[in-house]
Amino acid sequence: YPFWAQQNYESPREATGKIVCANCHLAQMPTIAEVPQSVGADSVFKAVVKIPYKNDLKEIGADGSEVPLQVGAVVMLPDGFKLAPQERWTEEIKKETEGVYFTNYSEEKDNIIVVGPLPGDTNKEIVFPVLSPDPSTNKEYHYGKYSLHIGGNRGRGQVYPTGDKSNNVVFTSSSSGTINSIETIEDGSYKVNIEKENGEITTEAVPVGPQLIVKAQDKINAGDPLTNDPNVGGFGQLDAEVVLQSPYRVIGLIAFFIGVGLTQILLVLKKKQVEKVQAAEGI
Ligand code: HEM
Repeated sequence: YPFWAQQNYESPREATGKIVCANCHLAQMPTIAEVPQSVGADSVFKAVVKIPYKNDLKEIGADGSEVPLQVGAVVMLPDGFKLAPQERWTEEIKKETEGVYFTNYSEEKDNIIVVGPLPGDTNKEIVFPVLSPDPSTNKEYHYGKYSLHIGGNRGRGQVYPTGDKSNNVVFTSSSSGTINSIETIEDGSYKVNIEKENGEITTEAVPVGPQLIVKAQDKINAGDPLTNDPNVGGFGQLDAEVVLQSPYRVIGLIAFFIGVGLTQILLVLKKKQVEKVQAAEGI
């Protein structure tokens, strides 16, 4: 969950560029983002994060039952950018963000926004309303090109903050030998007893959820899977770019175009005039 990232990591992005959700959500699946190519100062724009997966997909819950997937996302905005205050949300944004609760990653980091868990089926597209800074009133910020780092996740992770495995992962054998017996416990979990060459018996606990793919008398090696991989979700991250555009540059560009157009017209007029003089003088 995003709050596990908030509790365990000061920044959600490591020096390598990896977003920390990936430390526990081990499977990779694509995440897509849409941001405008350029935005004006002190303006509200939408960053859209898409977390696609197959409709009506189910995963195993912590109790082994089948449950719908949930989604979550983190958006790291450039310094100075932040979640747009609600009074500046347009009607469209209000509608698109209904039921979505945004939180800042931490008090110091209001340019990082997290969302989730949210029901996945209705939130495969999450709209983040963003407010850009105004370099004309705050000299700390400048016009120019900026990067955003975005992560999106669907489905349960494989590792808990304690380091324990969740039940949404392949269980493997830690020793080689022959499966002596498999006990089924009342809650639906298993104990797989493996007899090593030297006669010693080790026991692997398999929680409720993943399905066993081994049976008694099977020979196995250390590291071999005992279960299928029940995970259907995954995490994906990407970078996006946005230009904080100065209005004076745009005005300057337009003035330049008008200037170029005018000189072209004047040149043609001048040529016509010269032609007339030449015709009159019979040259
Ligand atoms: C569950 C997102 C970071 C471990 C979830 C779920 C979401 C999510 C949406 C619910 C999935 C579902 O119910 O289908 C994220 C995001 C993260 C993040 C966006 C980063 C900002 C982490 C971290 C850890 C972690 C750092 C480990 C320390 C898990 C586990 C579950 C889970 C084990 C399953 C919990 C359970 O149902 O028992 N996460 N997560 N997540 N997350 Fe994360």
